[in-house]
Amino acid sequence: MGAILEINDLKKLAERRVPKMFFDYANSGAWTESTYRANEEDFAKIKLRQRVLVDITDRSLASTMIGQEVTMPVALAPTGLTGMQHADGEMLAARAAEEFGVPFTLSTMSICSIEDIASVTKKPFWFQLYVMRDRDFVLNLIDRAKAAGCSALVLTLDLQILGQRHKDLRNGLSAPPKFTPKHIYQMATRPRWCLGMLGTSRRTFRNIVGHAKGVGDLSSLSAWTNEQFDPRLSWDDVAWIKERWGGKLILKGILDKEDALMALKTGADAIIVSNHGGRQLDGAPSSISVLPEIVEAVGDRLEVHLDGGIRSGQDVLKALCLGARGTYIGRPFLYGLGALGKEGVTLALEIIRKELDITLALCGKRNIQDVGPDLLYRTVAREAVA
Ligand SMILES: Cc1cc2nc3c(=O)[nH]c(=O)nc-3n(C[C@H](O)[C@H](O)[C@H](O)COP(=O)(O)O)c2cc1C
Repeated sequence: MGAILEINDLKKLAERRVPKMFFDYANSGAWTESTYRANEEDFAKIKLRQRVLVDITDRSLASTMIGQEVTMPVALAPTGLTGMQHADGEMLAARAAEEFGVPFTLSTMSICSIEDIASVTKKPFWFQLYVMRDRDFVLNLIDRAKAAGCSALVLTLDLQILGQRHKDLRNGLSAPPKFTPKHIYQMATRPRWCLGMLGTSRRTFRNIVGHAKGVGDLSSLSAWTNEQFDPRLSWDDVAWIKERWGGKLILKGILDKEDALMALKTGADAIIVSNHGGRQLDGAPSSISVLPEIVEAVGDRLEVHLDGGIRSGQDVLKALCLGARGTYIGRPFLYGLGALGKEGVTLALEIIRKELDITLALCGKRNIQDVGPDLLYRTVAREAVA
């Protein structure tokens, strides 16, 4: 493998190092994957304005997300089964994010637990909540996140039932993996990954097993989600969750301006414009294409963040220009983790930082907090996001 210069290089290396079923779990969308593809493709349609002969010394990428300082406005998105991309994956990614100065968000469906992350980090991380039917378990999760000092709760709204991802079904995805001939082959051809897994005891959903009543085997993610996730979750529930949590609240999975206006009424601190990385409603628009109308609807009454399809610092800049206060990356950091562990996550962040910085300069700006739609080549941008 030659030099690693872009996120795609990390993706290629991850494919060689992570067993197929887990690499595919990251690299997949629902059904035809049209929304998964659109997330990336629509960024490419937006063009930047090249500006010259302005002083571009002393540039700054520092900003804030929900009032917390970040060295650049790019957080790590919550991703399930991250500890299956690499042994102790969530702990490694959380440490990389902390050292880099950006937020790490731990998924409810993580392999390493809230307490595992707290044991290896010094600064507060964010916790992502899925709401289960078992309300005692949900309340307990919120309390555990509080006890661990988490500084934001990210409530995911777009996965009360699981979108169908063909690759996962065909692969027979499970965590821990089953020992069928196919899976044994997939693992045996990834010896580095196997060695890592043999060296850790963290191989199941540690936020859940031993905490939720009657849950011992979570190996079938879709069956478990169907049984446990609460399909009646409504806007009214946001109120009790907000009250129990009592801290900064971010609502994740808003893709429609009507929903953005509902979110505003809840008093949440931020929303994440997101289609779950194209993993839920296939056929939904890309996140970047709906960002402008959502920003217009809510104005500056709450922070608007975005995820989905960000593969470079240029994409981050485009989202910020269209009104996002912050962004998140999912797959880019997972590829880094699968490829090179903690160093790979750091590398993914460094690649994005460098691209963001150079692009900012070539657009004639010095401060990331000073960007807006005027940096975009408007005629093309309008078409792209129409
Ligand atoms: C492998 C994988 C697992 C994910 N698991 C979760 C999860 O547990 N909770 C959640 O809110 N979002 C989850 N997401 C969605 C991400 O938080 C985020 O919305 C998405 O990855 C952004 O798109 P990107 O991967 O193109 O950056 C997951 C995404 C991926 C790729």
